[in-house]
Amino acid sequence: MSAKIRAIRGMNDILPEQTPYWHHLEQVWREVLPAYGYREIRLPLLEKTELFKRSIGEVTDIVEKEMYTFTDRNGDSVTLRPEGTAGCVRAAIEHGLIHNQTQRLWYQGAMFRHERPQKGRYRQFHQLGVEALGMEGPDIDAELVLMSARLLERVGLAEYSVLQINSLGSAASRSSYRKLLVEYFSDHLDQLDEDSKRRLHTNPLRILDSKNPQIQPLLEQAPRMSEHLDPESQRHFQGLLSYLDDAGVNYQVNPRLVRGLDYYSRTVFEWVTDRLGAQGTLCAGGRFDSLVSQLGGRPTPAAGFAIGMERLVALLMERDSEPANGARPHIYMVVAGVERVERRGMQIAERLRAGVPGLRLLLNCGGGSFKSQMRRADRSGAELALILGEDELAQGSIIVKPLRSAAQQLAVAQEDIGDYLARHEIFSGGESGSH
Ligand code: HAM
Repeated sequence: MSAKIRAIRGMNDILPEQTPYWHHLEQVWREVLPAYGYREIRLPLLEKTELFKRSIGEVTDIVEKEMYTFTDRNGDSVTLRPEGTAGCVRAAIEHGLIHNQTQRLWYQGAMFRHERPQKGRYRQFHQLGVEALGMEGPDIDAELVLMSARLLERVGLAEYSVLQINSLGSAASRSSYRKLLVEYFSDHLDQLDEDSKRRLHTNPLRILDSKNPQIQPLLEQAPRMSEHLDPESQRHFQGLLSYLDDAGVNYQVNPRLVRGLDYYSRTVFEWVTDRLGAQGTLCAGGRFDSLVSQLGGRPTPAAGFAIGMERLVALLMERDSEPANGARPHIYMVVAGVERVERRGMQIAERLRAGVPGLRLLLNCGGGSFKSQMRRADRSGAELALILGEDELAQGSIIVKPLRSAAQQLAVAQEDIGDYLARHEIFSGGESGSH
C-alpha cells in the first residue's frame, strides 16, 4: 500500500457528524440577517497581497507572520484571505456599492492564517462576517451589537458569552494616546517582555492586549484610553452605550480591548466565552471609518464584525451530550431477492422521492441477505423499513415495518405506498432528525 496522505496541519475536515451543527448556524444566519436588512455578498478567497497590507496594517501579527502569500504564475503576489473585511470593502468600492448609498452586507466562508494550531485556532477557519457601510453611528454600531447578540442567542449560546466593548477614539486622539503609552512603557522598559519591547515603537496599543501575567500589574497602571478620548468619540461611545442600556444588553467596558487589526477606530467589541480556553473570542468587530478611503474609495464610515464558526460549533458540541442526528433517513428500503426485485425497488424509490417532497429514503445498494439488510436498516436510524422481496414483487405489494415502535408491520399495494407515506406521522414533525 502507498503511504497515506494527511490533511495539512490546522486545516480540518468537517465530518458528517459535525455538518448538522454547521447547517444549524447557517440556518440562523439566513433567518436573522435579512431581519436587519443585510444581504449576502460572495467574495474571492484569493486577493492581491497589497489589499491586506494596506488594510490590516504592515505591523500586525497577521501581515507580519500569518498570511499565506505566494507568487502566482504571472509573477503577482497574491494572498489567501486572512479575513473578510478588506475584500468586502474592496468589492464595495470596485462595484460602486457605496456610491451615494449605504450597504448592509454579509459573507461567510473560509479564511486562512498561518497561526500555531490549537483548540479553537486553526489555519483554515470559517467566519460569518457582517459589514455596514456608509453610516456613522452610533445607531448602526448598536444595531450591529444587538444583531450579534441575537445571532448568538438564536444559535443557543447566549448564556455562554459576555460582551466586552471599548472605544479607540479617532485617529488623532489615538495617536496622542499612543505617545503617552510609549512614554509610560519606556519609563518601565525593564519590566516589559521581549514581545512587548518589540511592539513598543511599532504597535504599542497591542501591548495592552498582552496575556503575559508578569506584565499585568504594569498594564493595570498604564494610562487609560477612555481618559484620552476626543469629545466626539466620547459622545459616540456614550450614545452607543445608551442604545445598549435601552435594549437591556449586558456589557463590560474593557479599556484594554484594542483588537489585532489596524483599521479600527472608535467602537470595538468582542463576545467572549470562558469555555474554550485561550481561544475564547466568539465574535469580534468594530468601526473602521478610514478603511474605505485607505483602499481608494471616498471617505465612508463603516462598522462590522465577524463570528468564528469553529468556535461556535465547538461550544455547541460540548453542550450537547448527544450528538446531533443530522438528516436521518425516514425510510430504509430493503430489496432482497433476484435482480428483478432490486430493479423494481429502484423504480419505487425514485417514484416515492418524486412524489413525497421532503422524504429521505435510503435504498439498500450492494445486495446482502435479508437479515443483513435489516441490520443496516436498523443502524441507519430510519423510522420505517420498506421491504420488497420476491413474494411482494409477485403480489404487487410492499411491506411497511416500523423500526422504532412495537407497531405491527403491514403490506400496502405498491401503487398506494406514496399516499400512505404522505399521510404517515413521520412527516408530522417537519424536518425530523435535523439539529
Ligand atoms: P478577528 O478578530 O481577526 O476579526 O476574527 C474574528 C473572529 O474569527 C475571532 O473572534 C474568532 O472567533 C475567529 N478566528 C480568528 N482567527 C481564527 C483562527 N485562527 N481559528 C479559528 N477562528 C478564528 C476579523 O477578522 C475582522 N475582519 C472582523 C470584522 C469585521 N471587523 C469589522 N468587520
